[in-house]
Amino acid sequence: MSDQDDATRRGAATPAWTRERATRVGRDAGTVAPIIYPPDRPLDPSVHIWDTWLLRNRDGSIAEIDGWRVILSLTAPSDLLPGKRHDVATIRYFYSRDGRRWHSGGPVFSGGELGSRQWAGSVLHDDGDVYLYYTAAGESDEAHLSYTQYLAMADGGTVEADEEGLRIEGPWEHRAVLHPDGDRYETESQSRGMTYTFRDPWFYEDPETGRTYLVFEGNTPVPEGSEACGGDPAQQEFNGSVGLAESPTGDPTEWELREPLLDAVCVNQELERPHVVRRDGRYYLFVSSHRHTFAPGIDGVDGFYGFVADSLRGEYRPLNDSGLVVANPENAPFQAYSWLAFDHPDDLLVNSFFGYFDYDRPSLDEVAQLPESEQFRRFGGTLAPTLRIELDGDRSRIVGTLEHGHIPLGSEPLPDSPFDERAAEPSGYGREGGHPEPGGTDGF
Ligand code: FRU
Repeated sequence: MSDQDDATRRGAATPAWTRERATRVGRDAGTVAPIIYPPDRPLDPSVHIWDTWLLRNRDGSIAEIDGWRVILSLTAPSDLLPGKRHDVATIRYFYSRDGRRWHSGGPVFSGGELGSRQWAGSVLHDDGDVYLYYTAAGESDEAHLSYTQYLAMADGGTVEADEEGLRIEGPWEHRAVLHPDGDRYETESQSRGMTYTFRDPWFYEDPETGRTYLVFEGNTPVPEGSEACGGDPAQQEFNGSVGLAESPTGDPTEWELREPLLDAVCVNQELERPHVVRRDGRYYLFVSSHRHTFAPGIDGVDGFYGFVADSLRGEYRPLNDSGLVVANPENAPFQAYSWLAFDHPDDLLVNSFFGYFDYDRPSLDEVAQLPESEQFRRFGGTLAPTLRIELDGDRSRIVGTLEHGHIPLGSEPLPDSPFDERAAEPSGYGREGGHPEPGGTDGF
């Protein structure tokens, strides 16, 4: 879309996730994920692993480098209390030949990265070059942790692979690519909400138009005294958006802000890790969000939400009427988070991380009151079983799982049985709320 198109678009309202639709969010047989049990062994016992993304080609397919595929993840030492991990987040990489057994490559950067810690992003492999987009959280060298955020990138590094393994190495050139403009995207000082976001850049090239975009998480400015949400200030604080930037030339280093793809003003504060998958000629836009970031009066869940449109900048409609695509089960409401969909000819596949299990309280606030040993024991800190989702127009349905952290290529057939390939219990499929207890809650 040219600047002119964007200017025209600015006259029109941003597609919205409305309160009317969001109040329909509720668990049902097609959206509740099966209960997750710990794997035999976490992917890397030395670190907590959470938000994860795949090294992809420009067309969005999973990159294969001399037979290796690569994931990048936010990580923190596993002896750190899980709740503190965001404060020290470090991007590490892992590589695999079969998408099941992952080898640890170590931290991607070794100095010079922007921010006091790095949060989620995406990574492009293009013509032998690697472009790594990430969130600079806080300022480099700050004495006290701040929550400033901007979109950053690094290029100039190399990926070398041989029979033995794969190495991602610098030197990297880091640069800030986008800051909020205060007009389409709220700045930190404008923020009136519980949290503030300008993060999670995700590279996307539209196969229909060949245009090159970054999709990201932001907030729409809602000044005091605004008419939004019937003038109710309590609702106005919830102003999440899915932001958009474009590279007018396709150069993966040059970006300009555009109008948001979607917003959730009066509905939700955080539309996290947005990304797009094109399937059956439609554009599916996905985000993760929390129960506690829904505006007053909306009873949401920690889950994966989706929207569908006929063009990238089209009028997005919530999937399943409400937007809900994957919900954690009611008795394990924080078992997974930060879902990432990727395409496969059989089903849509969805990666996420294994969060708090054996915990059935409606909020995570009480985790901090557990003994530290329990906070460690009940945190998965590794990849969750990959979900299989059947997408049919505006409808989706969870139809099975693959094992923890399994990332198949499009050319690799999925198991015949949609259920867990290790023949684990396909617990509770198709039965609303029909999941077994995850093993008692220690009276907590
Ligand atoms: C989602 C998220 C991301 C952010 C990261 C910080 O799990 O909140 O939006 O980049 O975690 O750890």
